[in-house]
Amino acid sequence: MTRVLILQGPNLNLLGSREPEIYGAETLEDIHRAISARAAELNLDVVFFQSNHEGALIDRLHERDFEVAIVNAAGLTHTSVALRDALLGIARPFWEVHLSDPATREPFRQMNFLTDVARSSIVGRGMAGYLDALEEIAAAPMTGTETESA
Ligand code: DQA
Repeated sequence: MTRVLILQGPNLNLLGSREPEIYGAETLEDIHRAISARAAELNLDVVFFQSNHEGALIDRLHERDFEVAIVNAAGLTHTSVALRDALLGIARPFWEVHLSDPATREPFRQMNFLTDVARSSIVGRGMAGYLDALEEIAAAPMTGTETESA
């Protein structure tokens, strides 16, 4: 069974109360519950990790105990060469998800260190974006070094 790491970056633990007009009313727990339900239907195994700390996110990726990741790097999307390097370094395909569409927001969100190395980017779909990513993963062939173990 394909194991999918759901990696959630800084401040996503505040979802539900954090700028709901931008990010929606669902809490992170609501989102993870919906992901678990859809993953079970798609026969995918999911594990979750949220941190407000760049190094903790990188350390979690280095565990390489998953075949593919869904990554919402939140604010680190726009700043972190180190997170990009980690994603490339572990050689696992990843899907980038954002609840909002950063490209249509403030100029500082136009910089994105992940999009060009993501297998796919799903933005502006709120919680549904994570479920779309799961669907795409279930349908995607996992080829090459990406499926080899660490
Ligand atoms: C976000 C978009 C980022 O620009 C922002 O810093 C976030 C959330 C999103 O899911 O829309 O924290 O990743």
